[in-house]
Amino acid sequence: MVSYKELGLVNTREGFKKAMEGGYAIPAFNFNNMEQLQAIVAACVETRSPVILQVSSGARKYANQTLLRYMAQGAVEYAKELGLNIPITLHLDHGDSFELCKSCIEMGFSSVMIDGSHLSYDDNVALTKKVVEYAHQYDVTVEGELGVLAGVEDEVSAEHHTYTRPEEVEDFVGKTGVDSLAISIGTSHGANKFKPEQCTRNAQGVLVPPPLRFDILDEIMKKIPGFPIVLHGSSSVPQQYVEIINNNGGALKDAIGIPEEELRKAATSSVCKINIDSDGRLAMTAKVREIFAKNPGEFDPRKYLGPAREELKALYKHKTVNVLGSANRV
Ligand code: G3H
Ligand code: 13P
Ligand code: ZN
Repeated sequence: MVSYKELGLVNTREGFKKAMEGGYAIPAFNFNNMEQLQAIVAACVETRSPVILQVSSGARKYANQTLLRYMAQGAVEYAKELGLNIPITLHLDHGDSFELCKSCIEMGFSSVMIDGSHLSYDDNVALTKKVVEYAHQYDVTVEGELGVLAGVEDEVSAEHHTYTRPEEVEDFVGKTGVDSLAISIGTSHGANKFKPEQCTRNAQGVLVPPPLRFDILDEIMKKIPGFPIVLHGSSSVPQQYVEIINNNGGALKDAIGIPEEELRKAATSSVCKINIDSDGRLAMTAKVREIFAKNPGEFDPRKYLGPAREELKALYKHKTVNVLGSANRV
């Protein structure tokens, strides 16, 4: 059993309290490899932002759980070396079983998500409560979820949103003891969050997606005032990356994300954690494709992963400063 405290990591409790008071959200960026982790840490140190490092079960399979754990420990030391000991949380993204959550806690994770959103309400309550009871013994914080996001997450996919039912949240939070709650108000995972036919065109001809259901968020906040809310599926799918990808041999069709203004607005509410993965994937892919198209003879990974890392860092800095408002909070 490794305690996250020995690794210099923090759980989400204190950070969410500050985020709630300060009207911002802490970025939860997914990572699977060294370049992503370097970019996240450097961006958050440079903008003085707290950060949540997210590991999905797919990431664990891809990179190896032991390596990822030591990388997160290294991230704490790397931040100090860069000059600022920012609060870093190591979080399991979309944990789907008690055993997976327990294993992550034993490996030094300071926060876990137990995603029982695809289960019946009673089964979701029972599973989440079990994880909370175990996690809290080690002062590890737990995120639960109510409502189902449309789209694909790991092996589970849903055709349509099932919005969170505000009438359930108080009961769920009370019965399970969770520290934060992920909700469904119109965001979804991946780069294709809306179909073009769901969108309207603004004066510049840009597709504008239907707004998030802030009315549902408001109802939820009335039921559980001051309780930390989490938004998954919150990539904005920057169109400049989509264009670079498609102009350099890619084929991304109908890639549409959540407008940044909506996320900024959400961050000023009880939303304390905003999950972003796809935008990082797009930034990295755009840069790598561009470099390969310009220099087809290049075969040194540092020559394309290095610039991709720089692009990622710029993206993450933009998120903390302009979207989540978490910059200059450390
Ligand atoms: O919610 C899903 C995250 O973007 C992680 O994606 O399961 O492909 O690692 P992944
Ligand atoms: P995106 O696919 O919108 O980046 O969402 C990531 C996420 O919610 C990770 O849990
Ligand atoms: Zn998610």
